Amino acid sequence: MKIVYYSITGQTRRFIKKLDLPAYEIEPANPFFEINEPFVLVVPTYDIEMTEVVNDFLDFKDNAHQMLGVAGGGNRNFADLFVYTAKDIARDYHVPLVFAFEFSGTNEDVQNFQKVVMELESKRA
Ligand SMILES: Cc1cc2nc3c(=O)[nH]c(=O)nc-3n(C[C@H](O)[C@H](O)[C@H](O)COP(=O)(O)O)c2cc1C
Repeated sequence: MKIVYYSITGQTRRFIKKLDLPAYEIEPANPFFEINEPFVLVVPTYDIEMTEVVNDFLDFKDNAHQMLGVAGGGNRNFADLFVYTAKDIARDYHVPLVFAFEFSGTNEDVQNFQKVVMELESKRA
């Protein structure tokens, strides 16, 4: 299973590097990449116009159908708006919100998210 992620200031990228799992980073210059395998999406939280490339990726070919779940990175100071980008994607694409973390994640976040990914993988097997 792959991790597909997007990162603007690098926090999400740092989180992903700590996971030690196969990952693909959505490129803002060309988000039209066909993934062709099941994945979990990890997205930071910003105004919609800043994360539209994630929708471009999801809406390309069969990509959205390969998404098993979405995780959100954010900042709890945003209170009710914490990880709303991931929540919106979960709602719009009918996938579960499987995890939420702040910035580049703590060691505990890394371990817990690895468990979530393993559980999603074993459910598919
Ligand atoms: C302009 C701006 C708006 C943000 N809005 C939100 C928000 O509404 N909710 C939230 O949880 N985090 C918000 N954040 C925090 C980022 O999502 C968080 O720092 C994230 O780790 C950034 O990931 P990245 O470095 O991979 O882009 C915002 C950050 C910035 C700079």
